[in-house]
Amino acid sequence: MTVTRALTDPATVASDPALEPRRSPETRPAARAGTEVTGWLYICPLEALQPGRGAAALVGDTQVAIFRMDGDVLHAVGNVDPYTGAAVISRGIVGDRGGVPTVASPVHKQAFGLDDGRALDDPSVTLGVYQTRVHGGDVAIGLR
Ligand code: FES
Repeated sequence: MTVTRALTDPATVASDPALEPRRSPETRPAARAGTEVTGWLYICPLEALQPGRGAAALVGDTQVAIFRMDGDVLHAVGNVDPYTGAAVISRGIVGDRGGVPTVASPVHKQAFGLDDGRALDDPSVTLGVYQTRVHGGDVAIGLR
């Protein structure tokens, strides 16, 4: 599924005080990487995301794959498979390896950690990782 959205000026999003970044259970681990969030971009209602499945969204010029996991935990990583250049990660199969949530590229099946975007078998290869939050039932992606 592809989520389409109206173009939103990130500056508008960033100036909405209700959308100020905050540390919360919805804040995903990109915070751990020290990534500064400059604002939040509305993507879609949480209910539009199917549990256990990915969706692709356009964040500026970047394709992002968003996954809704058990307990409505969200992960957002780059949608482009670095091994093939194909924008397919949102269609990958989610799973876990040793308790680490993963997505396997549908092309050659390389698995990536959803927490840090790293290829499990080659930590030098990584998808981008994006912070997510749910605000009023709506999913937003952290801009940076
Ligand atoms: S502050 Fe916007 S829904 Fe709570």
